Amino acid sequence: MITVRKTGAALGAEILGVDLSQPMDDATFPHIVALWHEHEVVFFRDQKLTPDQHVAFSRRFGELELHVRKDCCRPGYHELFVVSNIVVDGKPIGSQDAGLFWHSDLCYLKVPSRGSLFYALEVPHDASGKALGDTKFASATAAYNALPEDTRRKIAGLKAVQSYKKGYYRERNAGPRKPLTPEQEAKTPDVEHPIVRTHPFTGKKCLFVNEGYTASIAGMPGTEGDALLNRLIEHSTKPQFVYRHSWRVGDFLLWDNCLVQHQAITDYKLPLRRHMERTTLTGTAPF
Ligand code: SIN
Repeated sequence: MITVRKTGAALGAEILGVDLSQPMDDATFPHIVALWHEHEVVFFRDQKLTPDQHVAFSRRFGELELHVRKDCCRPGYHELFVVSNIVVDGKPIGSQDAGLFWHSDLCYLKVPSRGSLFYALEVPHDASGKALGDTKFASATAAYNALPEDTRRKIAGLKAVQSYKKGYYRERNAGPRKPLTPEQEAKTPDVEHPIVRTHPFTGKKCLFVNEGYTASIAGMPGTEGDALLNRLIEHSTKPQFVYRHSWRVGDFLLWDNCLVQHQAITDYKLPLRRHMERTTLTGTAPF
């Protein structure tokens, strides 16, 4: 039987009583989806999934994205984006520096992702046994709801420019990334999305801007636009909207890319290994 344990933060809940490697009956799946929409981030502990099972469960939600960085996907599985600091024979097994800045997955596409399903295969620990490499999640609904009324009026109907290039070329500890190929560039032109986005399943209003990829406010150049955008970005991740997830091997976590944004914490380095794999659900055009 399914039970739910809320995190106590503005978002997030653990779902207990589900083994995702087993066939799931038709009543359980919609129950999980409803809990996900309600809590924005949900997670299952102690899961043992093969890559095929990860992909198969993800496909129940619909179509999956094939990440533009194919070299960061698990060999033979273009749907599984690998986030890891592990290097084998001189070659990183995945993206070594994904998610260092607050962002929402694929917000820079014309049709951003609906959500991501993240599986923890290896988690780093410090000498005292404390897990490192947490991920922070910020509720875009809580952030929107907490905006002053005059700001909500000001941003209603405005759009922001989301830019893959802005996020891709940001300064990183691991050093500069290799330039995008012309093919990757062609797949990721800048796009405009509503700053106040409506969740396609629940109708909840979300503040859809983030530090990683939101470059400017459309039609508001110069200091006025920059000041407003910076204020919204700073507001969107205030501690009261944030849940910080401490990973355990076997955690399987779903985040919704409209209802939340997230950030990876890099407080570890090799020889401490972190290996996570993500499927990314195709979404719908923002409105
Ligand atoms: C991501 O943004 O997909 C990676 C998040 C993480 O590594 O914690």
